[in-house]
Amino acid sequence: MVLEAVGLAKRYPGSARDTVSQISFSIGSGETLGLLGESGSGKSTVGQMVAGILRPTAGRLFFQGEELSFPFRGEARRGIQILFQHPEVSFNPRLRLWDSIKEPYRFRRIPCQEDALVEFLAQFGIYREHLGRYPRELSGGELQRLALARVMLMQPKLVVLDEPTSMLDVISQAQVVHLLEEIQKQEGVSYLFISHDPILCRRFCSRILELCGE
Ligand SMILES: Nc1ncnc2c1ncn2[C@@H]1O[C@H](COP(=O)(O)OP(=O)(O)OP(=O)(O)O)[C@@H](O)[C@H]1O
Ligand SMILES: [Mg+2]
Repeated sequence: MVLEAVGLAKRYPGSARDTVSQISFSIGSGETLGLLGESGSGKSTVGQMVAGILRPTAGRLFFQGEELSFPFRGEARRGIQILFQHPEVSFNPRLRLWDSIKEPYRFRRIPCQEDALVEFLAQFGIYREHLGRYPRELSGGELQRLALARVMLMQPKLVVLDEPTSMLDVISQAQVVHLLEEIQKQEGVSYLFISHDPILCRRFCSRILELCGE
């Protein structure tokens, strides 16, 4: 088991009730769990708690059998990554993409060989010429593929995918979904796939957890 959530709940400050309450699920190694629900049902809230961005109000999270506390430390900080719906938020707008894509090397304290990195990025349809640019100078699909590449450079065990294709056109959407499947085959990574699209969820996920709104 890569991740287990038990009785997870979140009440935002000032709110009279829990946005999500008593959510329990587990995600196995190499598995994709779908998190399906309408807008406002709390999907991103759950995803952000799993990724360690948001502190749960109640409940417990276990990563590879060890209980997590907020903020995450050590193995979980690298091993659990998130890909956001809007690729722009993944990048510092003031940095050329070369600087952003090298962050995982700094985090992992390993040297970055630029030629090997460029070769790795080619699988994502990203080339050297893209990397001298700023985030706003890439298309949404290119930027999302680069965000995914950067997530994978962290060598995560689990990636929270928060509607990673909803801002993309059909072709870019199919490219990203295909890439995600290929990466999972190669790396055995697990996904928590957040979506409001039941058809995409059924295609992509081995199991689906449905969140109910009000
Ligand atoms: N920081 C916050 N403070 C207060 N309420 C919040 C906060 N973030 C989200 N909410 C509320 O919590 C509820 C769930 O939000 P969340 O973003 O998790 O939904 P979602 O299922 O991801 O929706 P969508 O499909 O539109 O992305 C919404 O009603 C939202 O207004
Ligand atoms: Mg959301």
